[in-house]
Amino acid sequence: MRISGNTIFIPGSTSGIGLALALALQAKGNTVIVGGRRTEQLDKITAEHPGLGAVRIDTTDPVSIERAAEQVLADYPDLNVVIMMAGIMKIEDWHRPATFLESAEAVIATNVLGPIRLIAAFIEHLQRQADSTIVTVSSGLAFAPLKVTPSYNAAKAAIHMLSETLRLQLADTSVKVVELVPPAVRTGLLPGQEDSEFAMPLGEFVDEVVELIETEPDAHEILVERVKFLRYGEARGDYDKVVATLNAADPHGK
Ligand SMILES: NC(=O)c1ccc[n+]([C@@H]2O[C@H](COP(=O)([O-])OP(=O)(O)OC[C@H]3O[C@@H](n4cnc5c(N)ncnc54)[C@H](OP(=O)(O)O)[C@@H]3O)[C@@H](O)[C@H]2O)c1
Repeated sequence: MRISGNTIFIPGSTSGIGLALALALQAKGNTVIVGGRRTEQLDKITAEHPGLGAVRIDTTDPVSIERAAEQVLADYPDLNVVIMMAGIMKIEDWHRPATFLESAEAVIATNVLGPIRLIAAFIEHLQRQADSTIVTVSSGLAFAPLKVTPSYNAAKAAIHMLSETLRLQLADTSVKVVELVPPAVRTGLLPGQEDSEFAMPLGEFVDEVVELIETEPDAHEILVERVKFLRYGEARGDYDKVVATLNAADPHGK
């Protein structure tokens, strides 16, 4: 993915990594459209940042995805990048179904079905663009499990393998598939995470991501240094140590 000159839709950019990345990519000379469920947040962001577009979208709702895609493509026919950022993370105890089933369904609907439906909504358009990119968002937890978030880890592992497979299948098109693999980053994804010393400061993370896109535009994965501990445990042969360290780090493993 080139660093500038794109038209980029980011469903899941009303806060956290998505918003910070939206602003950084706008500053690099891209047209950026933010998306999310919170309309008041979308209004606030566009008021504070002239030039940003905004489209309301609930990625758990197929009708909302369809409407948002129609609106984005009507208003931004040059759209060539979609970053599937929307995600939720839930702590679950799988000893008792009453405590996890609802959460597991919500996590899979948002983190797996959401990106699948988004890709379905945009893939035909993206193939008509000369140079386009689907950016998926997995996690270091796709590669090493955090004990307290089973559905989340499974969802992100699914996104990793979906990305790997789509890259093969779409190799005969103009569409590139890039997987962003964040480590723990200071956002509101989990309660208390914004101040967690185990998580990477948001600004530092996004700066490193932008630098990686600039210096390695053809990379299949965007991997900041901090995530390589999780990403390559199995390849290095220290997977068991990685899993133990991750889960000993703090009550949330962060
Ligand atoms: N922070 C980390 O440590 C970390 C690590 C690895 C991966 N990630 C991934 O990075 C992505 C962004 O997370 P974050 O850390 O920036 O958390 P965040 O601040 O909570 O942001 C999550 C974003 O997703 C949106 N979202 C959630 N459910 C949605 C839905 N049904 N429809 C549309 N948008 C929805 C939220 O917007 P609305 O509430 O307005 O809908 C918000 O903009 C997620 O996919 C997460 O799994 C984060």
